[in-house]
Amino acid sequence: EVVDGKGQILLPGFVDLHTHLREPGREDTETVDSGSAAAARGGYTAVFAMANTDPVADSVVVTDHVWRRGREVGLVDVHPVGAVTVGLEGRQLAEMGTMAAGVGRVKMFSDDGKCVHDPLLMRRALEYSASLGVLIAQHAEEPRLTVGAVAHEGPTAARLGLTGWPRAAEESVVARDALLARDAGARVHICHASTAGTVELVRWARSQGISISAEVTPHHLLLDDSRLESYDGINRVNPPLREKSDVEALRRGLADGTIDCVATDHAPHAEQDKCCEFSQARPGMLGLETALSIVIETMVRPGLLDWRGVAKVMSERPAEIVGLDDQGRPIEVGEPANLVLVDPDTEWTVRGRELASISHNTPYEDMTLPGKVTTTVLRGRITARDGEVFPLTGER
Ligand code: DOR
Ligand code: ZN
Ligand code: ZN
Ligand code: ZN
Repeated sequence: EVVDGKGQILLPGFVDLHTHLREPGREDTETVDSGSAAAARGGYTAVFAMANTDPVADSVVVTDHVWRRGREVGLVDVHPVGAVTVGLEGRQLAEMGTMAAGVGRVKMFSDDGKCVHDPLLMRRALEYSASLGVLIAQHAEEPRLTVGAVAHEGPTAARLGLTGWPRAAEESVVARDALLARDAGARVHICHASTAGTVELVRWARSQGISISAEVTPHHLLLDDSRLESYDGINRVNPPLREKSDVEALRRGLADGTIDCVATDHAPHAEQDKCCEFSQARPGMLGLETALSIVIETMVRPGLLDWRGVAKVMSERPAEIVGLDDQGRPIEVGEPANLVLVDPDTEWTVRGRELASISHNTPYEDMTLPGKVTTTVLRGRITARDGEVFPLTGER
């Protein structure tokens, strides 16, 4: 089949290090099937499915199941993320080695949507991960700093009386884990960096020779705490939307390579858990189908990234960080490739109900965004074209 890419931008398939597919456990909000469709439409050829499922992905039974479902659907490579500890708030290390050796070949471990709180447990997890050659992704959040705190800590949130994660809750864990990674001789990946201080800490850690990487979400690149004025639950997310100065620092950090990549933290939630008052809402926002447009809006249009830079932060760096050998490297002639074609000049208006996800909790409802994925190709096979997806199995 010949695809005419005239006037379009050809990029390597995107890699998302942080996706919540909700399977198993909350198939009423997203499945491997529906989330894969959203990913393909968003230009992704690989996603990393977070471990905070029900049951938690703390055993090879769950991680292999997620991987197999992804293969059956065939729209995107679904890489399972394993849990670092047993259960969601576990005090015991999970069998990371068994998950890494399964058919799902788990490459990344995390204790999403929480962080590994206990520093000694984190230290042991880092040592174990280094010996296995896998990566630990940390959801930097010190929970003892979130209890009853004016979490968003900006003047807006304080005035509105909203609670959540103060910036110290994030930054103290980033600093702690950088030091633990140094002493363990391990690598650590920081999920959803959200403050100017985190950018500074990552920059400092790297200057010390520490193996640290970090991601930023599209929503933290675009939205700030002025959105909280409405008390609308749609704006609730962890880490919270922060101040304009943080947004600026994150954009600059992504532009200069301090922040390695964009990861969506795609977090589907049921209608009743989002369409409510802020304090009642669950944290999380959809992200897979809007990520590229937000990167164009926040990074390409202001001249902070060129298209080469987009390829880097959406595909090459995330593939490198997690050690995918079939992404983010030059393609040999004749080799089946992972590619995405982008129309840079189109604008489109976001409607939650028109997205492929089962849930509709997009914070960009009715916003007009630049740029659209027109074609996604996974190993030489078209998985999405002009919004239509082509799974290997029915059941959609
Ligand atoms: O807002 C969030 N929601 N942040 C996370 O890291 C977890 C996620 C979820 O699972 O809903
Ligand atoms: Zn998180
Ligand atoms: Zn916790
Ligand atoms: Zn998450």
